[in-house]
Amino acid sequence: MDEPDWRRFIAAYHDTHPGITEQFLARAATSPYTWLAEPLRGVDGTVLDLACGSAPTREELPDADWIGVDLSAAELAEAARRGRGPLVRATADALPLASASVAGVCAAMCLPVVTPLPRVLGELRRVLRPGGTLAALVPSRSGLSPSELLGWARVMAALRAVRQPWPNPGARDGLPDLLRTAGFRVRSDERRVFTLAIDSAGAAALLADALYLPRLTRHRAEAAQRSLARWAVPGRRLELPLRRVVADLPTGQPSQEPK
Ligand SMILES: C[S@@+](CC[C@H](N)C(=O)[O-])C[C@H]1O[C@@H](n2cnc3c(N)ncnc32)[C@H](O)[C@@H]1O
Repeated sequence: MDEPDWRRFIAAYHDTHPGITEQFLARAATSPYTWLAEPLRGVDGTVLDLACGSAPTREELPDADWIGVDLSAAELAEAARRGRGPLVRATADALPLASASVAGVCAAMCLPVVTPLPRVLGELRRVLRPGGTLAALVPSRSGLSPSELLGWARVMAALRAVRQPWPNPGARDGLPDLLRTAGFRVRSDERRVFTLAIDSAGAAALLADALYLPRLTRHRAEAAQRSLARWAVPGRRLELPLRRVVADLPTGQPSQEPK
């Protein structure tokens, strides 16, 4: 899928599923957003939530000078409906923010899907002030345990999918290297497994919808929902490994202008 096709897919997907990532991660026993926000608590200055979606991190950083940016009007409307803001509609590769104006960036579940990634990272380098912090949360695939693998094999079989064809696969487990190459100093790189309750037909339907599969037809999605609904009995759990990478923009480096 080329970049224009991906952009069309992602715009249509979020138009019809606003807030889906937040709803999906709300199935976890503990909040991945709380974990993500930890390194940004107490940051002195503006915190940019990149590709904020329905803006779940807003409530994790109540005292921050927070601003959410996303391309999707439907996602931003969902964030506003939940009383979260301020919000700006913009693309991540052309941020409407002054150079070196941001003290922290929160990037929840977005770096594997925002395009074009090199330009997005260039924009983050430009808007972050020297010494500023980026905290990113991404899905992890490396080192899945047998039980993690088994659950996901069941889900992907129901969806007749072998992988998630996202545009930036390197921005999952390869994110630390990618950030170093882009000029950041990686401060920490941690993997944590969250446990999702997939214990009802509603949770199964959410799971079938939430995985960003561009080639998934309506017919296939409905068949997967029926199949997963039979599997989603009370007590059913699915393990979701996530990676949190925290990086700083080194001081003494001039902020970059967009190319
Ligand atoms: C997986 S969702 C994550 C949303 C939110 N951060 C969360 O964790 O709930 C990805 C988000 O990226 C946004 N997005 C995708 N490409 C974008 C781009 N180029 N510029 C800005 N936002 C983009 C989508 O609209 C969507 O809200």
